[in-house]
Amino acid sequence: MKRDFLSLADLSPEQAWTLLERAVSLKQEWREGGSPTRLAGRTLAMVFQKPSLRTRVSFEMAMRHEGGHALYIGPDEIQLGKRESVPDVARVLSRYVDAIMARVFAHEDVVQLARYASVPVINGLSDYSHPCQGLADVLTVYEKLGRLQGARLAYLGDGNNVLHSLLFAGALFGMHIVASTPEGYEPLPEVVRRAGEIAQTTGATITMVRDPQRAVGGAEVVYTDTWTSMGQEAEAHIRRQVFTAYQVNEALLAHALPDAGVMHCLPAHRGEEITDEVADGPNSWLFDQAENRLHAQKAVLVDLLER
Ligand code: CP
Ligand code: NVA
Repeated sequence: MKRDFLSLADLSPEQAWTLLERAVSLKQEWREGGSPTRLAGRTLAMVFQKPSLRTRVSFEMAMRHEGGHALYIGPDEIQLGKRESVPDVARVLSRYVDAIMARVFAHEDVVQLARYASVPVINGLSDYSHPCQGLADVLTVYEKLGRLQGARLAYLGDGNNVLHSLLFAGALFGMHIVASTPEGYEPLPEVVRRAGEIAQTTGATITMVRDPQRAVGGAEVVYTDTWTSMGQEAEAHIRRQVFTAYQVNEALLAHALPDAGVMHCLPAHRGEEITDEVADGPNSWLFDQAENRLHAQKAVLVDLLER
């Protein structure tokens, strides 16, 4: 039976820990200059409906490091669901490649790809979730704090795909996550409910706090993401006004624990959700976090594809 990687909520806490530990060991191996061949002869198709820097390059390099390779398929090429139906794209790609990673608008498209593909499908970001990011995020917190259980992370900003995966990740790993969004921009209730269910099994807590200053109180990590996700560009102007109080800047960080780490999945809109002084400051984890996409995804690829 082929397996997919669509949402962190599909994993048990034990499976999530196994993936995380594998990411840690693959990173160590990479640092020591190893030349592994676990994915020799394997090919990943990378289907993009949206732009990307990190996802595109880190998946390609992860395959390459393990002796395999990746094919980039940009938004104008297969025109998922327009030139050809999603099921037909899944069926055809399955005849050529060993796995598919897809970045889509509608989450249902990546679910359909998985349903009709005979090879594993990885969610490389949908409007609903960004599980590869969530795994890289917990890897980063784990490295920086030396633990995840009980780690206190505050997320400020939009209740979007990145927050959804962070809630699932925090729940799986026993973290205390406080999410602070403006009214009308909360994470989906079903995500909060499901994360809450997982949290009950791991000792995690998921809390919603409207006031951003109160939300970061006691936080060891402060996380933000763009106020305007890909596909929402028409709302950018109004969102800049709605989210102003949620900017991660030095004044806000003064309410967190001293030396609280700062995270952002990137790309950052400097001067909007995060200031330059924070993004480039001594407690910024942004680029270690970006690097960890490579190691986290390699763990996913090896898990799904190793013979
Ligand atoms: N964080 C992230 O997924 O970045 P890209 O959009 O550049 O892939
Ligand atoms: N929430 C952002 C994440 C980008 C990596 C978006 O969907 O555009």
